[in-house]
Amino acid sequence: MENALSTVSSTLLSFFNSQALIAAYDVEIFEAIGDGATSQEVFEHCNLPESTGHQLLVAMVAMGFVEYRGDIYTLKPDMAPCLLKNGTQYMGTLARHASKFLYPLWANSAQAIRTNSNQRKETFGDERKWFDILYSEPNDVADFHAFLSVLADPFVESFLKGFNFSPYKAFLDLGSGRAALPRAILAANPHLNVAVCDLPEAVDHMRQELMSSGHSDQVDVYIGDVISGDLPEITQDLVHMGWMLHDYSIKTQKCILANVFKALPSGATFIASETPLLDDETGPTFVALLSINMLISSDGGIESTTAQYLDRLCEAGFTNVRAVTLDGPRTLLIGEKP
Ligand SMILES: C[S@@+](CC[C@H](N)C(=O)[O-])C[C@H]1O[C@@H](n2cnc3c(N)ncnc32)[C@H](O)[C@@H]1O
Repeated sequence: MENALSTVSSTLLSFFNSQALIAAYDVEIFEAIGDGATSQEVFEHCNLPESTGHQLLVAMVAMGFVEYRGDIYTLKPDMAPCLLKNGTQYMGTLARHASKFLYPLWANSAQAIRTNSNQRKETFGDERKWFDILYSEPNDVADFHAFLSVLADPFVESFLKGFNFSPYKAFLDLGSGRAALPRAILAANPHLNVAVCDLPEAVDHMRQELMSSGHSDQVDVYIGDVISGDLPEITQDLVHMGWMLHDYSIKTQKCILANVFKALPSGATFIASETPLLDDETGPTFVALLSINMLISSDGGIESTTAQYLDRLCEAGFTNVRAVTLDGPRTLLIGEKP
């Protein structure tokens, strides 16, 4: 009984945790702490009143992000890469995205469930498509792709370990975001020609990323839309599309798969990477909740089981359709164009 009460009440109030963390990123308390700082140094750096700055520091210590010893605040060493702007896993980008887009949308979650419709108009008064809203400000594009590529890192690592790229000549990543996957594939498989294709606003950001990592000459960049079917000529023998199907309704997923199938050369291998629901749809919790997130924010986006994804690949015409489970968070859903 005690456990049930604590599970229900702490779940209902779990936004305390996320909003306190969002505030901490927002006032840049972690940058102020850096390698170690007194409370006074933190208040001055962040320009915070002593009383509220202290409350936030106490919360960050209690939540396990910050340590306090001998009057000095330090970042927990294992947390620092996620907390600092120059950290390898910086999540301040997700904090901004969640604060600007997801929190306001989720306030209407019951309405979304009652009416089976996204809540963009109710929340932002905006009837544009999800990616049009998401991509209207360049900083939001950068934030979205920055946190996604950090979250994709374990997948990229397991994809490189668990898939044999050696029989292929050329790789195309559809909806590549920040092009993190193709850059990693190229580093591990220098024999491959590598290309990416995405929506125009994503491509603008991707080009800047490729320029700053010195990959501009090594990765071909195309603009394309898998829903309208307006795609560049695809000559690659290995084509991947990651975490995109779940952004769309089942009907649109079928349309995307049909367009990709049509555009692929005969003999090509297609891989969609997704994080499916368990076969009996009892979890995982994060994916079940992500499905509601897709309902609220996107155009009918929904999470599916592996079998449901594979059925859609078969329906599009792919053969030898199969799932490959990797160590990391995603499953490869593979098919070939005869
Ligand atoms: C959730 S992100 C996934 C990014 C990356 N592939 C990954 O696995 O982390 C979805 C990507 O699909 C792209 N995308 C969405 N709709 C698209 C469309 N109709 N045509 C082409 N790309 C699209 C987005 O711009 C974005 O880069």
